[in-house]
Amino acid sequence: MLPEQTIKITSLVKMFKKRGDEVRAVNGVDLVIHEGELFGLLGPNGAGKTTLIKCISTLLIPDQGTATVGGFDILKQPLDVRRQIGVLTGGERSLYWKLTPVENLNYFAALYGVSRQKTRERIAYLLDLMDLTDKRNERVEKLSSGMKQKLSIARTLVHDPPILLIDEPTLGLDPTFSRFIRTFIKGELHGRSKKTILLTTHYMDEADMLCDRIAFMNRGTIEAVDSPRALKRRMSSEQVVEVKCLGTLEQELFASVREVATLSLENKDGLAYIRMSSESPEQLLSTIIDLVQNRAKVLSVNVTSPTLEDVFVYLTGAQLKEDQTEE
Ligand SMILES: Nc1ncnc2c1ncn2[C@@H]1O[C@H](COP(=O)(O)OP(=O)(O)O)[C@@H](O)[C@H]1O
Ligand SMILES: [Mg+2]
Repeated sequence: MLPEQTIKITSLVKMFKKRGDEVRAVNGVDLVIHEGELFGLLGPNGAGKTTLIKCISTLLIPDQGTATVGGFDILKQPLDVRRQIGVLTGGERSLYWKLTPVENLNYFAALYGVSRQKTRERIAYLLDLMDLTDKRNERVEKLSSGMKQKLSIARTLVHDPPILLIDEPTLGLDPTFSRFIRTFIKGELHGRSKKTILLTTHYMDEADMLCDRIAFMNRGTIEAVDSPRALKRRMSSEQVVEVKCLGTLEQELFASVREVATLSLENKDGLAYIRMSSESPEQLLSTIIDLVQNRAKVLSVNVTSPTLEDVFVYLTGAQLKEDQTEE
């Protein structure tokens, strides 16, 4: 039997007007996510990830195409779609601060029309899961920011939706809480509760660590879809050479060598880190020799395996790095 197609996106286009220009934030996306899958949408800032999530969660209406979520069409059956999904955005805290956790959760359960019995069970379960049982009758404003975060998560799960849309789960969170969220998504939501999860991220480690399959998204389009391992195999070369030099290097330096793909160049603290790959070992070697003889003091040369980020750059030509600002 074929696995159930829980989310099916068909030729979806969403445009925005930005300073008089038309931006195709999502530019013809086709994607299928199967039941129980933990699927990642990976791409740099401005790729169109949030816009796509907003269309699927019926917060935005696409200009062309459509999607079905749990069998319901986002255009024709938006209310049914909303009952199927929980939408979680990193750093979001839409809670009532004057109310207690229990009151907040009761309120959101009522909005979704969850029965009393089920509401009681869900609240007890979620408070326990989030380690908030002791705080259940404190006002939200008195809770720590981590506790508020956890309560926001509980809030989006109160109606026990089978499908979760998670936009940048760890954006702006400290490392400890990021770890908690990742473990929670992978262990609890995906592993134990068997939810179907579509998450977006621009952190390649996060996608690599969490996801069964990943779609590379860049400039509104999907450029590759596969498991992290299969994506890494798509590099024509199985090895990536990382060279560390003293000083600062310019990207243009490498542009002339066509057989060598420069995957990344990072200048940091007076050092330059270059990651390169090539189908031609001779070309790679001569590039390094050229560096040694003419350009820079080479401190180390390492041969490593490709990371997901290397593959992303290789396949899309775009950088994933956070400091790459759009506009
Ligand atoms: N409300 C909006 N109005 C105009 N442009 C928008 C709006 N929302 C997003 N965009 C533009 O659409 C593109 C995709 O944005 P977004 O979906 O937020 O990308 P991502 O989530 O991958 O960073 C960007 O160029 C962004 O500036
Ligand atoms: Mg976004």
